[in-house]
Amino acid sequence: MNKEIKKICCIGAGYVGGPTMAVIADKCHEIIINVVDINESRISDWNNEDLSKLPVFEPGLKEIIKRRRGVNLFFSTEVEKNIASADMIFISVNTPIKQSGVGAGKASNLKWIESSARQISKFAEGFTIVVEKSTLPVKTANTIKKILEASNYGENTNNKKFKILSNPEFLSEGNAINDLENPDRILIGGEDEESIKALKEIYLNWIDDRKIITTNLWSSELSKLTANAFLAQRISSINSISALCEKTGADVQEVGLAVGMDSRIGDKFLKVGPGFGGSCFKKDLLNLVYICDYYGLKEVSRYWQKVIDINNWQRGRISGIVVEKLFGTISGKRIGILGFSFKANTNDTRESPAIEICKDLIEEGGELQIYDPKVSLINMENELNKVLIKNTSNEIGSWQYSNSIEDAAKNADALIVLTEWEEFKKIDWMIISKLMRSPSWVFDTRLITDIEEASKFGINIWKIGRGF
Ligand code: UDX
Ligand code: ADP
Repeated sequence: MNKEIKKICCIGAGYVGGPTMAVIADKCHEIIINVVDINESRISDWNNEDLSKLPVFEPGLKEIIKRRRGVNLFFSTEVEKNIASADMIFISVNTPIKQSGVGAGKASNLKWIESSARQISKFAEGFTIVVEKSTLPVKTANTIKKILEASNYGENTNNKKFKILSNPEFLSEGNAINDLENPDRILIGGEDEESIKALKEIYLNWIDDRKIITTNLWSSELSKLTANAFLAQRISSINSISALCEKTGADVQEVGLAVGMDSRIGDKFLKVGPGFGGSCFKKDLLNLVYICDYYGLKEVSRYWQKVIDINNWQRGRISGIVVEKLFGTISGKRIGILGFSFKANTNDTRESPAIEICKDLIEEGGELQIYDPKVSLINMENELNKVLIKNTSNEIGSWQYSNSIEDAAKNADALIVLTEWEEFKKIDWMIISKLMRSPSWVFDTRLITDIEEASKFGINIWKIGRGF
């Protein structure tokens, strides 16, 4: 028997749910898609007439919303009604790392997943396919299954029948629409042929059959964690080598080029930097470490923990170098920070390396002037308030929001480039050198500025991974 999918409900209208459903709606006009969220203001932003106010900024997204919203793509807070009418439900809710209790700082907090499963169990009608889209720890499908199965007992079972699929998302922020339209692969994990086929039929509307892989549920869940762990591991690998380059006189870009030209290794994800950020890498690594510990695989867990350790170390290493170069103290010195988002082309600051680096420098007494083209003052405030310990000591420095590169450079002893924004590539060093206090420094942790040009105007320069 073939299950025909006429209506989809997606629970969670965030960075994953919103763009994913927009692309499915754009490719499958005959399917009605309802994206629901408990956050009313987020839903009203998705429904905003002014498309520049959408809650997620992604190139190409607003054009799709313009074409499909109100046609076969709807955003609402009507969770119950849309669960009831759906043939297929995607779960795209948040799964952050737990802040307290068992597994704090390591395991994912599954309370939003559990509450979605309970809602589905209560309101779904007939045969419903439930698809895990959020990044989840391995074996989460078991939890969802148990909650859904419980709906078959008691009153009002309403002939409910559920099948669960895992269909992890591999989109990268800033490139989400392109990743969704032209994915490297689509992964569908499950045990029921009919449900797998139903989901596969949707993707076949725009994706080649050969790119769609089907596996069992656990392989699918684990593949997502493993893919992100491998990507993060490459970044920690090149970052660890950057430190060795600085000691030996090698150049990390030259090493990266030589290594990446080996077709067995490949050249992607070998860019040196202040460490990886974003909502996925650290969370997925921590989940991997946690599950290995749970199964008693200490060596495996320690192996993946090292990828996180190197990432933390890289950030601390950068703050340490800044202090050392500025004669061992930055107390009372002004330092311009260029870039606060975790990477360019996004306003997302989750796990951004800039947060810890700024915290270190403020705690060393620095007076920071932070500029980012897309991150708002409120967002910076939220992130820094989370990490800055309220300290009564006079030693602690401060920070302020800057509106431009020039503003961040004014009377500064140093500038630190932390995000690879396009505009930092074109800095006019003649103008900037006049704004700074001598002897001035520029630290480039992304290797994107024309820093040699800066040295012509008397600025001292430091490049990550470059031995002098
Ligand atoms: C990542 C995965 O790429 C995606 O497949 C998954 O679904 C979600 O997590 P994202 O976090 O959006 O996507 O960004 P990504 O481009 O992977 O970058 C993550 C971090 O690594 C950023 O802080 C980036 O600056 C850093 N990075 C990336 C490097 O430092 N060097 C590189 O070569 C690549
Ligand atoms: P991601 O980056 O994984 O998409 P986000 O935090 O951007 O994560 O989005 C997750 C969304 O899921 C949030 O907007 C949140 O309000 C929503 N959400 C969480 N739990 C529920 C629920 N039980 N029902 C509906 N929406 C939910």
